[in-house]
Amino acid sequence: MAENIRWLEVFAARAAARELLPWSHPQVLTIDELRLVTASLQQFQLGEGSDGSGLVRRARKSRLATLDHDFIPALELFIKEEQRHSRHLARFLQREGAALLRQHWVDQVFRHVRKCAGLELCLRVLVMAEIVAVPYYTALQRVTTSPLLQALCANILGDEADHLRFQAANLALLRRSRRGWDAAEVLLWRGFQVATLLVVWHEHRQVLEPGGYTWNSFRLDCARLLSCVNENRFEEPAGHGRAAAAN
Ligand SMILES: [Fe+2]
Ligand SMILES: [Fe+2]
Repeated sequence: MAENIRWLEVFAARAAARELLPWSHPQVLTIDELRLVTASLQQFQLGEGSDGSGLVRRARKSRLATLDHDFIPALELFIKEEQRHSRHLARFLQREGAALLRQHWVDQVFRHVRKCAGLELCLRVLVMAEIVAVPYYTALQRVTTSPLLQALCANILGDEADHLRFQAANLALLRRSRRGWDAAEVLLWRGFQVATLLVVWHEHRQVLEPGGYTWNSFRLDCARLLSCVNENRFEEPAGHGRAAAAN
């Protein structure tokens, strides 16, 4: 049964609460923690930040915009949540005396692929980034003793769980209105997925491994989330505003 969640309400309802983080907590990262997390946090901070204008432009032209009048405003709030992740990570890094990255090749590849894509592929590429974010922030939350960074990770993980549901529902609607992928397209997409997992493992294993992941558990976790998205089937979401469709 497809979930029927009013995403506009979900995203709007939590915007203010997500700003409530313990910024004034005196604990800062230890030297060892800084060494462990800085480079990978810098990459995620860069990757979370995007103005989203290309995505909204594609979305406005799609049938989702005509099927659901809440779709574009919900998408804009979704983009704002990603920008908030980036803003909070930037503030955290600066508080710890770490510089922010201006660019990174992984981020550039993701942005380039999204620029070349239509709405569906654009959403699929975004979903891959959100899937790998789940084990990453889970591991990060485990390896740090900083209450601020732990709270930041908890917020982001809560948001990303909903983002996966939001995008799964959007992708399910888009799938209904197009031809199936041919074998070459499936092969290319699988190649992109595998490459993404390998790159993320390579770039972030210094956090993932001490956070309890092996390559196998990381890739299996990502594969499980990917099949949840593909089938648009998730466990019951905990405690956020769900609403039945208006009769
Ligand atoms: Fe995010
Ligand atoms: Fe997200």
